[in-house]
Amino acid sequence: MATSDRGAVGANCALSTPIPRRGFVELLLGGGFLATAIAFIYPVLRYFVPPKTADLGGDSVVAAKVGELQLNSGKIFRFGSRPGLLIRTANGEYHAMSAVCTHLSCTVQYRPDLREVWCACHNGTYNLDGRNISGPPPRPLEAYDVQVRGDEIFVSRRREG
Ligand code: FES
Repeated sequence: MATSDRGAVGANCALSTPIPRRGFVELLLGGGFLATAIAFIYPVLRYFVPPKTADLGGDSVVAAKVGELQLNSGKIFRFGSRPGLLIRTANGEYHAMSAVCTHLSCTVQYRPDLREVWCACHNGTYNLDGRNISGPPPRPLEAYDVQVRGDEIFVSRRREG
């Protein structure tokens, strides 16, 4: 009986290549070190080498459907990789601008009570054309053109020149 058990063990060892204990530990440590190194290096590389397809957005997007915004309200929409702000004034006019504050890049919002664009980070305010009127923002927000076509509201970048 003992002979057949030994034979079975011997047969199993013969089928698989034994890994020495020391080699196994070295392999484990090496793999752990490699994984740790990749975990540190990868984010640094991604920071210094931005993706080739940086999405700067098209020149025009559909920001909302007609009737989606009530009078005296605003909506944040996606313009490429950045937020934009579409405002419908109390008179029914549309205004659109970048929603990225020119101070430290917080996302601004429309304040119906003030009828202004407001940045909650440091209490900066802009008028409905995006001009900075109080607080720390140093420059106006980038203003966009608005066009209503059919039942969609298109927002587009203004052409230079
Ligand atoms: S980030 Fe907007 S006021 Fe500072």
